[in-house]
Parts: sequence; C-alpha cells; structure tokens
Amino acid sequence: MKISIVGTGYVGLVTAACFSELGIDVTCVDSDLQKINRLVYGAIPIYEPELENLMTHNVNDKRLHFSTDFNKGFENVDYVFCTVDPIPDADGATDLEPVLRIAQVFGQRIDRYCTFVIKTTVPVGTAHKVQEIIQHEIDERGVDVKFDIASNPDFLTEGNAVKDFMKPDRIVIGVETESARESMAKLYRTILLHSNRRVIYTDTRTAEMIKYAATSMLATRVSFMNEIANLCELVGADINIVRHGVGTDSRIGPKYIFPGCGYGGTLFPQDIKDLVKIADTHQFDMSVLKAVDEVNKRQKRIPFNKVSRFFDGDLKDKTVAIWGLSFKPGTDDLSGAPSIVTIDMLLEAGAHVRVYDPVAMNATKLRWADLYCGIDMYDAVKGADALVMLTEWHQFYIPDWKRVKSLMRTPFVVDGRNIYDKQELEAAGFAYSCIGK
Ligand SMILES: NC(=O)c1ccc[n+]([C@@H]2O[C@H](COP(=O)([O-])OP(=O)(O)OC[C@H]3O[C@@H](n4cnc5c(N)ncnc54)[C@H](O)[C@@H]3O)[C@@H](O)[C@H]2O)c1
Repeated sequence: MKISIVGTGYVGLVTAACFSELGIDVTCVDSDLQKINRLVYGAIPIYEPELENLMTHNVNDKRLHFSTDFNKGFENVDYVFCTVDPIPDADGATDLEPVLRIAQVFGQRIDRYCTFVIKTTVPVGTAHKVQEIIQHEIDERGVDVKFDIASNPDFLTEGNAVKDFMKPDRIVIGVETESARESMAKLYRTILLHSNRRVIYTDTRTAEMIKYAATSMLATRVSFMNEIANLCELVGADINIVRHGVGTDSRIGPKYIFPGCGYGGTLFPQDIKDLVKIADTHQFDMSVLKAVDEVNKRQKRIPFNKVSRFFDGDLKDKTVAIWGLSFKPGTDDLSGAPSIVTIDMLLEAGAHVRVYDPVAMNATKLRWADLYCGIDMYDAVKGADALVMLTEWHQFYIPDWKRVKSLMRTPFVVDGRNIYDKQELEAAGFAYSCIGK
C-alpha cells in the first residue's frame, strides 16, 4: 500500500509517521522546499512527543520519504491525504484555494484508482467541490480513471498527537460511495484491530460538520467555565471546587472545564470563525459561538489585569517574570497563546519582561527579539516584582518556593492555570492570585 501526504505540518507529519509505522510506504509532499530539505536531513520542524523517534526510524527503514515533486508524490499511490493549511481570507475565515489547487493537480496526475482523503478542516460542502474539480481534470485529459473522495477530519491534540492517531476515540469517515467506504475501511483496519475503537461512517457533509461541532463544543466548555470562574471571584465562591462538583456529574464529565487564562492555538479560534461564517452565509446567527470567542479574548487579558491591579495600574519599570509561553504544554506553538496578549500588554505598560518555557524559547526569540529569555525557570524570576504562570508544564507544578522568593524583588504570583495552593503560597510569604477564587 502506498500513501502520499500533501502538507508537512502537524497533521501531515503525524499522519505520515504513524502510517509508516504501520508498515505503509508514505511520501510527504510539500510546496515549501526549505522545509522538505530540512526533513530530508532529519530536522523536524515541530516539537511533538514521540514524533522524532517514529520519523527517524521509518526514514531509516525507507518507508518514509519527502519530496516537493507532485509527479513523484502522486505516482502509483493508493491514497492521497490533503493536510495543507487553508489560508485565511480577508475576514480571517478559511479560504479553500490551496485545497482546491491540490485537487486539481491530483486530477491532472492520477493514472489508476486512488482515494483522495481530506484531513484539512474545511467548510461543509468542500468534498463535493473537490470531487467536481478532480472529475473535471480527468475529463479534460480524456482518460477513464476512477477515484473516490473521503472526508476524514483530524481530531489530534498538539502534545498528544501520536497517541491520538494510534488510539483514537473514534475515526470519522465521510464518503459518498460504497467503494470509498471499502477503501477507507482497508486503510484503517490495523488501527481498529489494535485499539477496538469506533468508526463513524457518514456522508461527507456530515463528517465536515462533525469536526466543527466537536471543536466548537470544547471551546464552549472552556469559555463557559471561565465565565463561571470570573463570577466565582466576584461572589466569593471557589471555582476549583465548583469545577469538581460539576465535572463529577456523569452527564458532564471532567474534561475541558478547567478555568484558566483562555484557550490558544490556531484550531479553536479558526474553527469557530469558520462555523460562524458558514452560518452567516445561510443567514443563521451562531450567537453562542460569537460569545465563546469574545469571552476567550477577555480571558486572555486577565493575567495582565491582575498584575496591573496589584501595582495600582503603574507598571513602569516593574519586572514581570513569565513561566510558560506555548499555548499549552507539550508543544512549542505560540499561536494564539495567552502569553502573547500578556507580554504585549506588559511591554505596552512599560514593564520589563523575563520569560522561560521548556520548549518554546526559539519561537519566543523570533517573536520578541528583545525579551530576556531565562536559562531556566529560576533565572527568569530574578529581580521580578511578579511571577505569572501561563502554561502548566509539569516542571512548574512544584517549584522550590523558598528559592523563588529569595530571587524575586516582590513575592507576588499570578497563577493563570490554578495549579498552586493558595494557602501554601501565602504561608511561604507570597501574595497570590489565581482564576476564579
Ligand atoms: N494542528 C492541529 O492540532 C490540527 C488538529 C486537527 C485539524 N487540523 C487541521 O489540519 C489542517 C492542517 O493543520 P496543520 O496544523 O498541520 O497545518 P500546518 O500549517 O502546520 O502545515 C500545513 C503544511 O501544508 C503545506 N502547504 C500549504 N499549501 C500547500 C500546497 N499547496 N502544496 C503543498 N503543501 C502545502 C505548508 O507548507 C505546511 O507545511 C488545518 O486545516 C487544521 O485546521 C489541525
């Protein structure tokens, strides 16, 4: 079996590494020549647990290849996976041009039966457009080649992507023909054998919608709990216990209800924007989702507001240390991270900022060339008037508070993820503030 994967980002590389690990011959095709050259030499552009291992040994075993050449990439393959990132249009919503362009190239190249699998998150109805484009290109060539389309949305979470692929909660497969269904069943047979997971077969439009609905539901839970947390703070309730009380309800469950300083990444904001736009084109108002996005934007400003309030609005020449910059643990991705809002607001207010993150330091240096990047978490707090913890990396869970206090100028901690114990910190001589308590 041979697979070609177009796009070597998070989704593309994880999909490629995992399928090659299952014994399939995989070629990754990307239009970014530099990226492909680096991959050929073993440089993996993202940090993702287990990914480097998988890629290295499958490259060594000659099951995983990289190319910028679509001719080569689409030669004698059984499946082509589209995992490219669509570019945002003027309103920031998904512009399908890159996906449709790949469909066109596919239609111009295939010479035997192949399934075109859409993994990129795309607006409802895209699979139908892709089908038409490919058929048009085949007709133009005057050849008789059969193909199928499948919508196979990706639910990986950064930081857990390899595990998510190998042991998925479910695999969603949208198809319009029996042959497409058979083709996809053959592809995923091994994963299903080993994990006993569920496959949800449906039509392509429903599969496309499932992806948006799932992401939006998770984002809604986060924003809802953050709003409850903010109210807890005003009425004197404790959000940590409220969360426990709510999450132990079997109808609700414990996931995605942790209060904090907002969700980041590209996925949640982009999918919400897309869904709102899809609804708009049908003159339907997604008022809940619009509020989810607004609440999240407000939430990201809370850590800054807490520091500012502590110093009566005067942050000129105050030094603030930040622990955790990536939008969540397990990734070096800064996209949409609360750290961006916090740091930009602190700098704007005249504060000096010292930062530390276990893996996102390179990305940080690219974004803010002048920030002081600590050599470790303790170096970052030297001389600080406040410490703001924004990403709950494991190494931040049990710091040596005595050492932290001795290094800081003012012992004030803002806990953006509610991982510290208020009593413990206050007993150690810190002023402490978290979300919703
Ligand atoms: N990252 C996630 O956690 C995640 C999870 C689920 C779904 N998704 C969805 O999957 C899609 C891809 O996400 P990603 O994070 O992997 O994106 P990414 O930006 O990390 O990678 C996309 C890759 O596609 C390449 N590319 C773009 N246009 C191309 C073209 N015309 N030909 C060849 N290569 C091209 C880019 O060079 C890049 O390497 C998005 O639609 C996203 O919404 C992402």
